[in-house]
Amino acid sequence: MVRYFLFLLVLITILIVSIAGLRDYSFLPHKTKRPPIEIFPDMVRQAKVKAQSPSDFYADGRGARSHVDGTVPVGYSAPESSAQASEGVATMGSPYNVVIFSGKQDYADTGKVGTNWGNGLPFNATMATLERGRERYQIQCAVCHGATGGGNGIATKYGLVGVASFNQQRIREMNDGEIYNTIVNGKNSMLGYGSVIQVPDRWAIVAYIRALQRSQNATINDVPATERTALTGTNASASTIAPAKQ
Ligand code: HEC
Repeated sequence: MVRYFLFLLVLITILIVSIAGLRDYSFLPHKTKRPPIEIFPDMVRQAKVKAQSPSDFYADGRGARSHVDGTVPVGYSAPESSAQASEGVATMGSPYNVVIFSGKQDYADTGKVGTNWGNGLPFNATMATLERGRERYQIQCAVCHGATGGGNGIATKYGLVGVASFNQQRIREMNDGEIYNTIVNGKNSMLGYGSVIQVPDRWAIVAYIRALQRSQNATINDVPATERTALTGTNASASTIAPAKQ
């Protein structure tokens, strides 16, 4: 008796699930245009507020809620007080232990002075800036641009074409602000990295690119006189050693 009951129970369960649990009966030989019988509510219909639509639930009648006061997006620093803001870039020189992605419109954030690309770092670079720039460069840029900025990073061995070499005259002469902007927003086929590189780090990378450019276009005159013999065997002059190949 119990056996028959169990058998029947299993059969009915299978029947219910196969009829009521499926939303789409179009696999059946006789297709129907009628909407499917909906016994269990389908997930397409659920209680929710659609973007920008009104809602009775809240007193102000709006479905969209404004942010809780003081909310800061992940990865962004809290808005500065106006006193801090007027200090501006002065606050940027220091710390790498705070997160800075700001959307301000000054030179430090845009690379622009008025409508032109500016030149120079917005804070005093130290050796630590260059070290930081090297580290960030090697993480974010070297895969494409190469360890020395020659445009020959590992990605180019796997078919990426058109990576710019920083040793071209055009980029050597380019304003710092324009390079900064390329880091933030990209250029032509290069995507921007502004969302993953903080403001001081972008400038540190610019500083490091300048160091790379200098290193790749050095002459013997950049070497202190006392070191030259060790490098060349003779006390060579600038004319005997050409700048490194681009
Ligand atoms: C995925 C590969 C890739 C990465 C990573 C990458 N770049 Fe580029 N970059 C390119 C390519 C490709 C171009 C050439 C874009 C063009 O002109 O079409 C380029 C061009 C440039 C230029 C020259 C823009 C100009 O005005 O012609 C600069 C400067 C530059 N990149 C800096 C950087 C820096 C700094 C980083 C790291 C934060 C970086 N790139 C990361 C691929 C990359």
